[in-house]
Amino acid sequence: MNGLAVVGCGHWGKNLVRNFHELGGLRLVCDSTASGQQTARRLAPEVRVVDDAAQVWDSNVDAVVIATPAEAHFELAKAALQAGKDVLAEKPLTLTYEHGAELVQLANERRRILMVGHVLEYHPGVSRLLELVNSGELGSVRYICSNRLSLGKVRREKNVLWSFAPHDVAVILRMMRGMPFQVAACGGAYVQPNIADVTVTHLLFDNGVRAHIYVSWLHPFKEQKLVVVGSKKMATFDDVAKELVLYDQHVDVRDGEPVPVKDKGTNVPFGDDEPLRLECEAFLRAVRTREAPLTDGQSALRVLKVLQVAQRSLITNGAPVPLPIEAFSLTQVAL
Ligand SMILES: NC(=O)c1ccc[n+]([C@@H]2O[C@H](COP(=O)([O-])OP(=O)(O)OC[C@H]3O[C@@H](n4cnc5c(N)ncnc54)[C@H](O)[C@@H]3O)[C@@H](O)[C@H]2O)c1
Repeated sequence: MNGLAVVGCGHWGKNLVRNFHELGGLRLVCDSTASGQQTARRLAPEVRVVDDAAQVWDSNVDAVVIATPAEAHFELAKAALQAGKDVLAEKPLTLTYEHGAELVQLANERRRILMVGHVLEYHPGVSRLLELVNSGELGSVRYICSNRLSLGKVRREKNVLWSFAPHDVAVILRMMRGMPFQVAACGGAYVQPNIADVTVTHLLFDNGVRAHIYVSWLHPFKEQKLVVVGSKKMATFDDVAKELVLYDQHVDVRDGEPVPVKDKGTNVPFGDDEPLRLECEAFLRAVRTREAPLTDGQSALRVLKVLQVAQRSLITNGAPVPLPIEAFSLTQVAL
């Protein structure tokens, strides 16, 4: 392999630069600003730094990682694929489903790897939670809720739904192994006109499962919590406290009366590998083996579809938007 380039060395891209540098694959970093270039030189002193993505397409690197703001993902990923590079693009893959579909088609035509940085799908805590769900430990899944709240980086090019919720949507779709048949979203824009700072999105699945996703970058404290309520047990994954807790609790109905059966919860251990490191390794593995990674273009497209219908609902103040019922087979990848 001739190595890899990272385009965009800002707040998040610097983590990708660090990881790929440590993994030994990094040959080139591109950032259009002096501060981004300076960060790259500090993190990877012996790696070539350029200011124009055209120099990346002209180079002999095999693979490109795109960590620019989302509005540039489509054009950059398209140019990279056209130049014959494999691509890992940060989330969201693109800002429309149609652009995402165009990239997936292009990657298929050119037989290139296309992957999206849905890093939560590589989180050892989430992998463990999915194992618990898939093994039937929780019984059948009934309800999921995911909160991603902070006083965070307020974006100008996309709202909080497109900025934060890709992670939650990606994990929920993986857990449900299917698409919701209806999506409804409400939200409020307080900092900038028409850019929602807070949204609540409801996903309805055809087996009666509901999921809600509450995201905000206008919140007094940081919370990243995923709750899964099953017919037998419940589980919470807290990405701030780094805890996965299994509760052997449910509600029984005795003599027609609902009776809660309570339990203080048991901590479930999980690996402490950095999720982004696992994501970077997955990309390098896909480039090497030519096998689709866990978060391939198709999985990115499913997330974009949900975000796009949620966005449609958001602008009509929560009117439910239907989707065709669709199950899918998941890319099976050993992490
Ligand atoms: N996976 C995650 O958890 C996670 C977390 C944060 C951000 N992100 C994603 O990472 C991406 C970058 O976000 P960020 O917070 O680092 O943004 P940022 O604004 O801090 O950094 C973006 C960098 O890209 C550079 N850039 C912009 N256009 C360029 C171009 N055409 N060529 C070369 N360089 C260019 C900028 O100079 C800047 O240094 C976004 O897509 C965001 O959604 C993902």
